[in-house]
Amino acid sequence: MSDAPQTPYQILGEDGIRQLCHTFYDIMDTLPEAADLRAMHGADLSGIKDKLADYLTGWMGGPPRYADKYGTVCMTTPHEPYHIGPNERDQWLLCMDKALQQINASDELVDMLKVPLFRIADAIRNKEGPSSAADNPNIIAAG
Ligand code: HEM
Repeated sequence: MSDAPQTPYQILGEDGIRQLCHTFYDIMDTLPEAADLRAMHGADLSGIKDKLADYLTGWMGGPPRYADKYGTVCMTTPHEPYHIGPNERDQWLLCMDKALQQINASDELVDMLKVPLFRIADAIRNKEGPSSAADNPNIIAAG
């Protein structure tokens, strides 16, 4: 069996995931193309930076920090109050692409995350066509 990292968590570690999430919201805060997405969030992003890091730590294969604190991994419910269509989804994914670049993520990691990130962001989408969560029971964190 090879010693090569098998999960994004093994590649980034918990500190790397936290750095990614802080960078993600800093990019959202300043990128003109993400202005609609930024406007949906509260003025202070500090709490949500840590929430996303807790969430992604478990989602990327590490300890389930978010589930331990909040008792769920469901992401559709907390997003229900917001209008999330393809535009909002794509702005979220753009910020995540740029954050991965900014933390110098390897091509291997970017490739590993591309499809799962699209799937979870599209599962959270709740406007303009059925979410992929509607017909794919295997999407993590939907429902
Ligand atoms: C698809 C586009 C998305 C949009 C437009 C969006 C938007 C939002 C908004 C407006 C909030 C509330 C922020 C606040 O309270 O100030 C939020 C919370 C959150 N989002 Fe997203 N989000 C998206 C995708 C995602 C994805 C893909 C993840 C995880 C991989 C995620 C993880 C979270 C977490 C962990 C919270 C905090 C939930 C809680 O209150 O416990 N979001 N999001």
